Amino acid sequence: MTLEVIILAAGKGSRMKSAVPKVLHPLAGQPLVHHVVRTAKSLEPRAIHVVVGHGGDAVRASLADQHLSFHEQTEQLGTGHAVMQALPHCRDDSIVVVLFGDVPLISSETIHKLSTLAAESPAMLSATVDDPTGYGRVIRDEENEFVSVVEDKDASGQQLQICEVNTGVLAAPAAQLTMLLAKVENNNAQQEYYLPDVFSLARAAGYPVDICPLQDTGEMLGVNDRIQLEEVERKFQRRQAEALMRQGVAIADRCRIDIRGELVCGQNVSIDVNAVFEGRVVLSDGVTVGANCVIKDAEIAAGSTIHPFCHIDAARIGAQCQVGPYARLRQGTHLGSASKVGNFVETKNTTLGEGSKANHLTYLGDTQIGEGANIGAGTITCNYDGVNKHPTQLGDRVFVGSNSTLVAPVTIDDDGFVGAGSVITGDVASGELALGRSRQRNIGGWQRPTKK
Ligand code: UD1
Ligand code: CA
Repeated sequence: MTLEVIILAAGKGSRMKSAVPKVLHPLAGQPLVHHVVRTAKSLEPRAIHVVVGHGGDAVRASLADQHLSFHEQTEQLGTGHAVMQALPHCRDDSIVVVLFGDVPLISSETIHKLSTLAAESPAMLSATVDDPTGYGRVIRDEENEFVSVVEDKDASGQQLQICEVNTGVLAAPAAQLTMLLAKVENNNAQQEYYLPDVFSLARAAGYPVDICPLQDTGEMLGVNDRIQLEEVERKFQRRQAEALMRQGVAIADRCRIDIRGELVCGQNVSIDVNAVFEGRVVLSDGVTVGANCVIKDAEIAAGSTIHPFCHIDAARIGAQCQVGPYARLRQGTHLGSASKVGNFVETKNTTLGEGSKANHLTYLGDTQIGEGANIGAGTITCNYDGVNKHPTQLGDRVFVGSNSTLVAPVTIDDDGFVGAGSVITGDVASGELALGRSRQRNIGGWQRPTKK
C-alpha cells in the first residue's frame, strides 16, 4: 500500500489575532505545520502535498527544504475544495491521507492504523468527546450504522447532543476520493465544500465506511486560538516529560519543563522546575539541572551540576563541573572537567582547563585558560577595542587577583600571578608577579571633613 499525504494549511486562523499564518505559530519551538510534516514523513509516503492559501508564501518558505509539493487554494471554499487542489497530483493507486496543518499531535500509529482500513473504501477517524462543540457530529441510524457527518453549524438541536465526532483525519483510495469529491456540493450553512460529505456519498454509492475510534483524544486537539495553542503546547510538553521519566530521568514537575527541540539524557539525570531546553541538549549520566535554567544547544558531561538560574547557549561542559547559580555561558564556551564557573560570571568563546575556577562576578571573552587556574572575583577581560576582538591567554595555575582587568591581546604564562586590582596591559612571563596599580600611600594627620 502506497500512501500520499495531503496537509491542509490554507485557512486564515483569524482567531489567533496575528499577522503570522496560523500554521506557523510555534509549538515546542517549531511551527505547527512542521510537526504535522514530521509525522507525515514518518509514514514514508510517496509524496506529501501541502495546500496553502492565507500566508501561502510564508508557509512555503518555512517548509522550503523539506521536499514537499505545494498547491495553492486561492479561495477558501471548504476542506473538500482544499483537498481537490492537491488530489489531481496524487497517483490513482495511492491511499490518500488528509491531515490538518493545525492539528499537530496526531500520531503516526493512529494514521497508520486508519490507512490500513482504507484499502478499499474511505475510513474516518472519529472520537468520543465530553464537549463536542464545534466538531462535525457522526450520525448513525437505528442499527447504529454510519449515515453521515453533520457540521456543527448545520446540526439540529438534537444532533448537537451527539458526542461522537469527526476528527477531520481521513484516509481513502485516491481514485475513489476524486470520484466522491466531484459530487460534493456546497448547499449548507457555510456554503462550503465539506470534505466529510464524501463519507455519506461513499455509503450511498455502496462503499463501506470504516470508522476508526481514536483512543487518546488529545491527538485530535486543533489550534484555532491562542488558548488552544497553549493547551496543545502543555499537552505536548507533558508527553515529552513523561517519556523522559519513563526512561529514568528525575523531573521535579512534569508540568514545569519545556523542551523545544531534542533533549538527550543519560542515567540518573535530575531536572528541577522551570527548566527550558532549546535546540539539541545532551545531559550525560548524573547531571543535575537546578531550577530556572535555560539551556540551548549544549553538551554537559557526566556528574556536572548546573545550579539554579543559569543561561547556557552553544557551550560544552566537561565532567564534574559546577556552574552557577546565575552563570551565563555563551557561544563557544568550553569548560574542562572539574572546572567551576560561579555566580554572575559571563563567558564567551572561552575555554577553561581542567580544575580551573572563575567563581564570582567575572567576564571572560575570547580567553584560553589552562589547568588549575584561579580567576579572582571581578576579573574582566577587555577583549574588544570597539572595532576588533582580541585574545587573552592564561597558562596553567595562573592566579588572577580580584578586580583585575586584562587588556587583550595579553598572555600570562604558566604560574603567572596578578596582584588584585591590576590593569594588565603587557604579557607576564612564567612565575612572575604582575602588579598594575598605583602604590598605596598612607597620609598621617588626616582631618575628616566636618559638617558646616
Ligand atoms: C473540520 C471538519 C469537522 C471536524 C473538524 C475537526 C469539515 C467541513 N469539517 O471542521 O467535521 O469535526 O474539522 O477539527 O471538514 N482549510 C483549508 N481550506 C479551506 C478550509 C479549511 O485549507 O477552504 C483547512 C484549515 O486551514 C484547517 C482545516 O482545513 O487546517 C480544517 O478547517 P476548519 O475550517 O478549521 O474545519 P472545522 O470547522 O474545524
Ligand atoms: Ca478547525
